[in-house]
Amino acid sequence: MIKLRVNGKPRMFRGAPFKRLLDVLREDFRLTGAKEGCGEGECGACTVLLDGEPVNACLIPVCQAAGRRVETVEALGTPEKLSKLQASFLERGGAQCGICTPGMLVAARAHLASGGRPDDASVREALAGNLCRCTGYQHIVESVLAAAKGAKKPAKAKRPRA
Ligand code: FES
Ligand code: FES
Repeated sequence: MIKLRVNGKPRMFRGAPFKRLLDVLREDFRLTGAKEGCGEGECGACTVLLDGEPVNACLIPVCQAAGRRVETVEALGTPEKLSKLQASFLERGGAQCGICTPGMLVAARAHLASGGRPDDASVREALAGNLCRCTGYQHIVESVLAAAKGAKKPAKAKRPRA
């Protein structure tokens, strides 16, 4: 049995340990946000976060996620309550056919969470493993940068009292 945390909840998987993480998420956990494009680690449609880092779920056996945190696009928001990033993609045309969008969103989320000041170049670099056939990338980059501007600044650490 493999135990892992998926979108903040403890989950158990009792099947073959080398089943692809992508298939476990989609077939066993019914989280169909991550998509299969190439199935070979080339397109990024299957991107999820493993302990906060973007990975291609089509290349990872579920046993490699044992005891670790997995986040899929479903963790970002719901249709009723979109995250800032999702809303920004919607408003700025960052999503068209939508096949690449879940992977783009989680990769962008990891980039924004990594701190620093995202700019055009850093966003393009962060999303370099995610291919899009529709948008030409400009709208995607603009969506991420707009969401970053609207993102709350991290609270300053309080000084310990003397
Ligand atoms: Fe995983 Fe393309 S489906 S990288
Ligand atoms: Fe269609 Fe990116 S929106 S592949």
